[in-house]
Amino acid sequence: MIYTCGPELMMREIFDIAEKQRLRLQASLERIFKCGIGLCGHCVIGPYLVCKDGPVFTSDQLREVKDEFGIITRDHSCKIVSLRED
Ligand code: FES
Repeated sequence: MIYTCGPELMMREIFDIAEKQRLRLQASLERIFKCGIGLCGHCVIGPYLVCKDGPVFTSDQLREVKDEFGIITRDHSCKIVSLRED
């Protein structure tokens, strides 16, 4: 089992390695919280709210959101922004 926290780009890399090695992983995600109690949707990632459903997510959950995990997030105005510079 791998446990990770820190920059999301780094956690995504660790997740990808864990998937290749067939190792289970838990990652503690960070998002900008507005309400912190599951009402505003500001911390959304896929079907999950980081403030309510996390912040720790399993490999199974991260697989569901791998189009967002380590790729996009939301800024303070809730606008979707890229986590990658390319
Ligand atoms: S911070 Fe509002 S729903 Fe998570």
